[in-house]
Amino acid sequence: MEMVRKMKTVNTKHELQAILQAEKRDGRKIGFIPTMGFLHEGHGSLITKAVAETDYVVMSIFVNPMQFGPNEDFEQYPRDFEKDQAFAKELGVDLLFYPSVEEIYPIYPSLTVLSVGEITDKLCGASRPGHFDGVATVIAKLFNIVQPDQAFFGSKDAQQVAVIAQMVTDLFIPVEIVICPTIREEDGLAKSSRNVYLNTEERKQAVILSQSLDVVREEIKLGNFNVSNLRRMIRAKIETQPLAKVDYIEILTYPSLLTISEIDNETVIVALAVKFGNTRLIDNCIVKVGS
Ligand code: PAJ
Repeated sequence: MEMVRKMKTVNTKHELQAILQAEKRDGRKIGFIPTMGFLHEGHGSLITKAVAETDYVVMSIFVNPMQFGPNEDFEQYPRDFEKDQAFAKELGVDLLFYPSVEEIYPIYPSLTVLSVGEITDKLCGASRPGHFDGVATVIAKLFNIVQPDQAFFGSKDAQQVAVIAQMVTDLFIPVEIVICPTIREEDGLAKSSRNVYLNTEERKQAVILSQSLDVVREEIKLGNFNVSNLRRMIRAKIETQPLAKVDYIEILTYPSLLTISEIDNETVIVALAVKFGNTRLIDNCIVKVGS
């Protein structure tokens, strides 16, 4: 007989820990997926991986105020808890953690703030000051609450992965970070909760992000290693779309995020942030050059 998995939802650290204590006592390997909800197949792929690799899957849904700037979309960020709950259950999450802001931040703003250094000043950190302090702080809190064996993150947010991996290394946090590939719409647009903000015309033009990455990946494979030339090429391609406003186009070493002028036998990230109206989209590809 097939075992029916029944998902539980809890709102407090206390309830979560009571349940997890029993699972851990029984020797189950705990997988954890932190999210901000409004779930799509990108989140779904992390759940599927966690279900395959671990014995008990915890997902959190928490729109973290600390990682939003004062003029960003914290209030407007899309939320649909009931739909998320059904989605998580369907894919095999065992325990859904859905805390209030007060539960995670008894004092807000938090008095303790984690800062991961230089890699947080580049890319999205330059356009969104303080963003990665907010991400690092909330992830450290969530890791301490859940104490998972493995935690699953998407490489769509490649800088976030680099920041969290660094934090885990620096603070000796006993968790393994598992990185999962970017899931895309049929035309190539990376799935994102923020895609719902796009109107029909913006949505059509947004495909230029993934198309530019495809072109630059080929160029690098052909031996075009000059970073200024590659960046210029991407900009020209993106600017063929009249509604696209480039925030940044960068090619840096990965995961150390160092500035380079020539790609020289190393792994690099090509990272883009482009605004369509008020919606800021990001995408990236990681390219390994040489042996
Ligand atoms: P959120 O944007 O909800 O993303 C949760 C996780 O899903 C992240 O690890 C993200 O990289 C991954 N993800 C999002 N879109 C994806 C896609 N198209 N393909 C694969 N994975 C994808 O990232 C956050 O939330 C927050 O910053 C968080 C880490 C939860 C901290 O608040």
